[in-house]
Amino acid sequence: MDWGMKNRLSRILNPATGRTVMLAIDHGYFLGPTSGLEDPGATVEPLLPYADSLMLTRGVLRRCIPGEANVPVVLRISGGTSILTELSNEGLTVALEDAVRLNASAITLSVFVGSDGERTTLLNLAKAIDFGERNGFPVLAVTAVGKDMVRDARYLGLACRISAELGAHMVKTYYCDGFEEIVRNTPVPVVIAGGKKIPEREAVELAWRAIQSGASGVDMGRNIFQSDCPVGMIRAVRAVVQENADVKTAFGIYTEEKERSLAGRGLPQQ
Ligand code: R5P
Repeated sequence: MDWGMKNRLSRILNPATGRTVMLAIDHGYFLGPTSGLEDPGATVEPLLPYADSLMLTRGVLRRCIPGEANVPVVLRISGGTSILTELSNEGLTVALEDAVRLNASAITLSVFVGSDGERTTLLNLAKAIDFGERNGFPVLAVTAVGKDMVRDARYLGLACRISAELGAHMVKTYYCDGFEEIVRNTPVPVVIAGGKKIPEREAVELAWRAIQSGASGVDMGRNIFQSDCPVGMIRAVRAVVQENADVKTAFGIYTEEKERSLAGRGLPQQ
């Protein structure tokens, strides 16, 4: 592997553990206004010390994140659709030399296997990988869930394996029963998305189950920044991913942080 590629990958996947806590704040690229991301800069500022990398669009990166921020960037380069239309018809939305200008550590895009946009988005991925291989940028393929497709190991495993076969350096998918099979059949690191907001303990458990099943970390957004204690949540998830903490220990980290934060604001502890 070329030095630049290896160096960038090591900025995403901690070389000591081979795992990552990626903080995802790219939701607005198709959802528009997103609860918790009204002011993305303010949202992520207290979270950055606990994130191995930040996944976002170039618009939010340029306008909301200070250039001095010492955090590896995973730059979203696909989009062009919204929740009002056929989501799977994504195209590439960033001239790839802009990833160089923005000092991205990796680029990322969605593939919609099993949807109208399957062919186009897989060819987008191939194009991004060609750029990545030429210029030393790892590519994270996001397996978006195709219309009417069940989020099961058979379907997600298909999308992950195809992405890896096309040359993706990492794959993001959803946790599901039989996740070990997905990892076994995907010859690159697999990280999980958190999905819609669920109770904090369940989100910690989700991360723990994924790690036990061979995930290389998380690319988590809403279950962190929409939590009632985002710092507590990212610290808890980090403990699971990078320190092999069990659910009880990690949830305890969240609870303590929440109590500290309430006490700091002079509010009664729950
Ligand atoms: C979806 O494709 C977006 O890229 C999000 O970054 C991703 O779903 C992870 O965020 P969450 O944990 O909120 O699902």
